[in-house]
Amino acid sequence: MFDPADPAFLANPYPAFAVLRALGPVHAHPGLGTPVAVSHAACSAVLRHRGLGRLWADAEPAAEFGAFNLLHRNSLLEREGESHHRLRGLVAGAFNRGHTARLEPAVRALADRLVADLAADARAGRPADLVGSVAAVLPVEVIAELLAVPEPARSALREWSNTIVRMYEPHLDAPRRAAAERASAEFVDALRGLADLRRRRPGDDLVSDLVAGGLDADELVGTAALLLMAGHEATVNAVGNGVLALLRHPAQWERLRADPALTPTAVEELLRFDPPLQLFERTALEDTDVAGHPVPAGTRIAALLGAAAHDPEAFDRPDEFDVGRTRNPHLGFGAGVHYCLGAPLARLEVAAVLDALRAHLPGMVLAAEPERLPTFVMRGLRTLPLGAG
Ligand code: HEM
Repeated sequence: MFDPADPAFLANPYPAFAVLRALGPVHAHPGLGTPVAVSHAACSAVLRHRGLGRLWADAEPAAEFGAFNLLHRNSLLEREGESHHRLRGLVAGAFNRGHTARLEPAVRALADRLVADLAADARAGRPADLVGSVAAVLPVEVIAELLAVPEPARSALREWSNTIVRMYEPHLDAPRRAAAERASAEFVDALRGLADLRRRRPGDDLVSDLVAGGLDADELVGTAALLLMAGHEATVNAVGNGVLALLRHPAQWERLRADPALTPTAVEELLRFDPPLQLFERTALEDTDVAGHPVPAGTRIAALLGAAAHDPEAFDRPDEFDVGRTRNPHLGFGAGVHYCLGAPLARLEVAAVLDALRAHLPGMVLAAEPERLPTFVMRGLRTLPLGAG
């Protein structure tokens, strides 16, 4: 079994996952308090199983987490059945109204500018941190653009998101939980204001489309919060983890540099090789089982996506990093009814960063060891210092 707080495990969890996979597809995990699916097939089954659902349980004591609970209770990610179907249909309908295509030039221009500035710093021998200057900036700017969030809320988005998502980690201390509630309350206020504004003066942004689509005020706030948090943290970490993989595999970076046509397969491989989201949970809606492991009604089971990503039953040479990998059925964006709605936007953002690095920092090297975030579910880096090579 692994200890999610152990720095040695966090540095490279994949050998520990291989040990678990060898024991069988599903195990009891006393540390996590739930059984955990570790093979690709079992993780996929957990995500697709109609007898397992995301059942939101309010953070307790509920009186102290009013805003945090409101955001999540009204998020489509936390709903199941008819209620999920209706809200997802409305959000997907608004999302598919060309917002990713509308944003593409802005995403590419922003990635290009951020990476060009980073490259100038690296060439001048100044500190050049890919995470702080590019990965953490681009996704939140893109969400701000998608939702057309005005100042001053725009500048506060990143801090709100960072503070709120800490609640997803196990065993969080009381001050951080209180900070997550405060950030949720500020976010709810700002979003209610934005929704009112768009109701009165619609624009070509997603919030206007959602208001027109018939979401009520709480659903709108919950959806905007979900887009911010789902769309932000995972993308930051996908870029950080992905570029680190390229730096640790210079021959693969060389290959990708020489052949821009490999960008789409490289994006998928970055997401598979070191996924930014390592674990999701489901609750049994009825007595059921996964790969023969009983999951009684009301109990939870986790899908360890990081373990699924290196399963030799699903991937040839799973521990090899191959930017040209063609058969790559990774579960990085989930599977089943909750499959990531933002996958096209996320792919665009990661591809835009790779293309900008190819243009501005083709000789990139690690300037110092990266610092890792101490979190396990959201796997990522705090810093990724680059040199120009
Ligand atoms: C590399 C970046 C991203 C990764 C790895 C990722 C991954 C995921 C995963 C694994 C799920 C399913 C969770 C589950 O089954 O419990 C999910 C759901 C979702 N994601 Fe993403 N995501 C990313 C970026 C984005 C972006 C940019 C957006 C939007 C702007 C977004 C919006 C959503 C939404 C709305 C859902 C909920 C769908 C539903 O419940 O029906 N994601 N994402």
